[in-house]
Formats: sequence, C-alpha cells, structure tokens
Amino acid sequence: MKPRVITDGVLALGAIDWDRRLFDSLIPLPDGTSYNAYLVRGSEKTALLDTVDPTKREELMSQLAGVERVDFVVSHHAEQDHSGAIPDVLAKYPQSKVVASTKAKGMLLDLLDVPEERIVAVEDGGELSLGDKTLRFVYMPWVHWPETMVTYFPQDRILFTCDLFGSHLATSDLYADEERVYEPAKRYYAEIMMPFRRAITKHLEKVRQIDPAVIAPSHGPVYRRPAFIIDAYDRWVSAPPRNRVFLPYITMHGSTGRMVEHFVGALMERGVEVEQFNLADADIGKLAISLVDAATVVVGTPTVLGGPHPSVLNAAHLAAALNPKLRFATVIGSYGWGGKAAEQIAAVIERADIEVLAPVLCKGVPREADFAALESLARTIADKHREMGFV
Ligand code: FEO
Repeated sequence: MKPRVITDGVLALGAIDWDRRLFDSLIPLPDGTSYNAYLVRGSEKTALLDTVDPTKREELMSQLAGVERVDFVVSHHAEQDHSGAIPDVLAKYPQSKVVASTKAKGMLLDLLDVPEERIVAVEDGGELSLGDKTLRFVYMPWVHWPETMVTYFPQDRILFTCDLFGSHLATSDLYADEERVYEPAKRYYAEIMMPFRRAITKHLEKVRQIDPAVIAPSHGPVYRRPAFIIDAYDRWVSAPPRNRVFLPYITMHGSTGRMVEHFVGALMERGVEVEQFNLADADIGKLAISLVDAATVVVGTPTVLGGPHPSVLNAAHLAAALNPKLRFATVIGSYGWGGKAAEQIAAVIERADIEVLAPVLCKGVPREADFAALESLARTIADKHREMGFV
C-alpha cells in the first residue's frame, strides 16, 4: 500500500491485514484488520504516529523508504500491534526519539528492545512543535490498557485515537463507509472497550470538548464525520439496555434445545427480542455485540460432570468479563440425575446490579410442567423489562 494523503503534510501509512483471522489468539477477525500509522510533516520536524504489527514491518519500512527524516515516533499505546515496528524505525532514523506517556515508557521498555534514552515521556496536555505544526497529547488511560494517550493536531483538527473508535476491518477505503463500518466498530467496542465503559464515558466527554473534524484511529478507516462514531459510542456506553434476551446455549441430546425453542417462542409472544446462539459453533464476536444492548442473559445448558457444559461456562465467563449493561440473569436446561449447573453459572455472572432469577431446570426430557415454568419465566422477564422501561 502506498502512503495516502489526508491533508497537506499528513499522510496515512500502515498495513491492511486482509487475511488475519484471530487476534490475541482469542478474538475472531471475520473482516481482517489494519494497523494504521500516520506521518505528520512540519516545516522543521517530522513525526510518525504509531507503527504496525511486527508481521507487517516490511510494508511500513517500504513506505518510509523515501522519507528522509523522522524525528519522533509517537507511541499512543504500547501493545505490539502498534508498537511492534518501533525498533525498525529507530534503527533507520538514528536521531529519532519515541514520544510516549509516562506509563507507556516503562511498558515499551518491558515489551521492546529499545534503549531507555531514546524514549521521551510526555505529560497529559504536553505539546510537541514540528515547526509550523504542533501536536498536543491527551492522556486517555484504560482504552483498554492503562498507558494510552491520543494526539490532537489542532491546525487541521485531526484527532489520532489509536484503538479508541477503531474497527477490525480490512478495507481499501481510507474513509469510513458508515453503513459498512458500523458492525465491525461495534464488534471492536464490545470486545475491547466495553469492559472499560466508565473510562470510555469520560474520554467521550474529552473528545466532544476537543471537537475534531477528523478522527483517525489505528485500526480501520478514518472518520470524516466524527459525530457518527462518537454518537454510536455514546449509545453503546450509556443508553439503557434494550428489551432483549441474550441466550447462549448448548444441547447434547436435544432436551435443552427443546427448552430453548419453547422459551424463545414464549419471549417472542410477549414482545421480548431474543438473540440465540448455539455455542457449538458461535462467533464470540457476535456474542459480544449482542451483549452491548441486552437487558437479560438466559444461559441454556445441559449438566455435564455435575456442572454446566464447559462451552457454556466459557460463554458465562466472557459475559461477565465484558462487563455489559445486563440487569437480569438466569439458567434453563436439563439434567440427568443431579448437579450444580445453575449455581455455578450464577456464581460466574453474579454482580451487584444484576438480579439472578430462579432457574428452570428439568429432569430428562422437558414435559408440560417444565414448559409451563418456561412460560412463567418469560412472563417475569417481559414484566421486569417493562417495569424498567426497556424498549
Ligand atoms: Fe490495537 Fe490495543 O492494540
């Protein structure tokens, strides 16, 4: 990929990773991703903002082949998908320094082979003059690591936000096609940012005060209409949950499956939205997206070795770790002769602001009384959603 012009003196560099399908050996990437770097050329100095994943270092270095000088490498975030090629850039430009937050400096020393004297720590609100251009650094910790900062370039009102507002989306478009980017951006928020909702809320206030004309993240396309992604984040972070049940389940011999089928019908009859996921082959990114808006989680599980199916337990751990806006939780399922499936799931999901409802568990195949209990549970959930004003 050749460097692309954003404004006079500001270039988009980096790499599109069309084929990557997994991040952190955990997160599926159905749409690939990109590692964006940006070059800002002032009358006296030049700064490179972020680098790329180490697997794409050659692509970045070929983009820099015609760039005579880089004086500063701004490292917004120490994670290797952005910092991984910093040693290569420092080797090419022996006079250059890394500019990072005070906390990032220590983390970069831990993660990369970089001499300490080549890293300059900047304070929150600090500025860097490039001659006729100035960069201003704004700390935004816990997006999703504790050291993160963003860079504002006031002359052109460009805010370089690294992971914040990013999307795992490989696309040839420099600028966001809003319809196309919405789901990858929501997936990214759900997987990476949602556990840090409180911090993100504060950062959104700061971003609104800055009032950028362009938001340039380090994954996915650039936003020329920042309100699109800022408003979306506001909804995901702060809007009340929807009248929706998130229902991950596993069935082994069909009994839990029959309960899920009946229960989903009972919820639909009462006007409750449902998103049902068979965990045998579910994309955990889709699960995370569903958790952004759901008011209730109902976990469907058979009993295995005295507890929930391991795939279900895994999904419950994920739901708890992502810190969604859930308000109610319960378990439905079937058992053969006993076990503690419901208690073990509840222990994972329990949180001060989540009410755990009575589970519906049946012995063997579900019968009339079990279906009646599922109807009752669906009625309870619909009533609670209505009382809370969820729509
Ligand atoms: Fe894209 Fe947290 O690194």
